[in-house]
Amino acid sequence: MREQTLLTREWVAAKQSFLDWESQPASFKQYPPFCYRVALNDHPSLKWLAQTRCITDEHTIAQRPYRRLNVPSAGNLHPIEIYIQIRNVTGLLSGIYHLDVVHEELVMIREIAGEGIEPYVGMEKRFSGVIAILTLVPFRSSWKYALRAWRYLYLDLGHQIHALCTSVRHFGFSLTKMSVNERLSTILGMGEDEVIGAVYGVGEMGERSVKALNSPLMRVQPTDYTETIDALMGAVKTAAVYTEIPETLFYEDFLSINRSRRSAREFYPNGMSDTVMRELMSIPVPDSLEILPFIFQAHAMQPGLYRNGECAVRGNFNSEIVHLLLDQRFISGSNMVVLIHAEHFSAETHIEAGIYAQELYRTCEHHNAICSGIGAFYDEEASRWSNKPLLYAVAIGGKV
Ligand SMILES: Cc1cc2nc3c(=O)[nH]c(=O)nc-3n(C[C@H](O)[C@H](O)[C@H](O)COP(=O)(O)O)c2cc1C
Repeated sequence: MREQTLLTREWVAAKQSFLDWESQPASFKQYPPFCYRVALNDHPSLKWLAQTRCITDEHTIAQRPYRRLNVPSAGNLHPIEIYIQIRNVTGLLSGIYHLDVVHEELVMIREIAGEGIEPYVGMEKRFSGVIAILTLVPFRSSWKYALRAWRYLYLDLGHQIHALCTSVRHFGFSLTKMSVNERLSTILGMGEDEVIGAVYGVGEMGERSVKALNSPLMRVQPTDYTETIDALMGAVKTAAVYTEIPETLFYEDFLSINRSRRSAREFYPNGMSDTVMRELMSIPVPDSLEILPFIFQAHAMQPGLYRNGECAVRGNFNSEIVHLLLDQRFISGSNMVVLIHAEHFSAETHIEAGIYAQELYRTCEHHNAICSGIGAFYDEEASRWSNKPLLYAVAIGGKV
């Protein structure tokens, strides 16, 4: 998919067209009003779910609600939905539910008893607790980014997976790995325009056997209308469901970080300390990725490209990096930019880049710094810094 999703100078020049926001597809899936609903906040045992994906800022732009979430998303388009199977959770009917983020509700799609989705995720016994399914809705993103959306879907998914894992752990639970069967998507009633991206368990396997749910759930379109790009849907449908469980850092102030995190739109370079930059550079990196941190402005640290915490190539590369990142001007005020490269260009490595970047977001917020994921860059120009493909960048600096 790399070649089909490149950003080149010609492409960017041709694309300087006006986007009609009136035609933006719906960002949140809505089940019919007759479905049984429960308020998420009435169930303390599901606090982790309420914090996994939630609206943290809302205002009106051009008479339309503009909602931002705890997780960032390219273009704020949010091409993700979450479903859960609940079994044996006090105060809740066992069933399969959709997480309605706008209304902070769980919407029941099907009640369950002796049957469930366990056989579709590799389990022969009933799983007490929650099985969470994260799906992708490609049109929400391709509406704006066409084929380039392929990359943003998986980067966004990585951010969401990380947010899920940190939330689960903050509330004292752990994650169980699942092995996903290809029939899961059909049984969950997914149509052509929604694809399963990741699946996790939060709970424990019981003793009692379980029967496979044998008829698909009702099908509801995830957007109010859709336009299909065959090459995009073909690629998304063939990607494997992600089931790896990432390591995450523990921050006591998880709740406030999760609520207050925002993407930077400008920076205040004096507000950033060298210690925080060093701390950001020491975040564990998944084996699949190569991280190139560039320091532009610091108190005592040398500007340049860092490797293993040491300045490996001295120089101020601010203008080169801003240029690489499509000349997005606000980045010139950042203290550092981290380029995230990977050995392989795949859905999986994009997810892992998103996971890593979400940890940068959290660590920044924890230390009162700010950052922004940057998915728009001239791909070919990144080869100056690494022979591996560039997947993502994060610009970091002091809070204004
Ligand atoms: C995959 C990805 C790519 C992004 N690319 C850019 C970018 O190129 N330029 C930019 O200014 N912001 C970028 N962002 C930040 C989004 O614009 C931002 O997350 C969104 O507007 C929502 O705002 P919030 O993060 O403050 O909630 C990106 C975010 C993600 C997750």
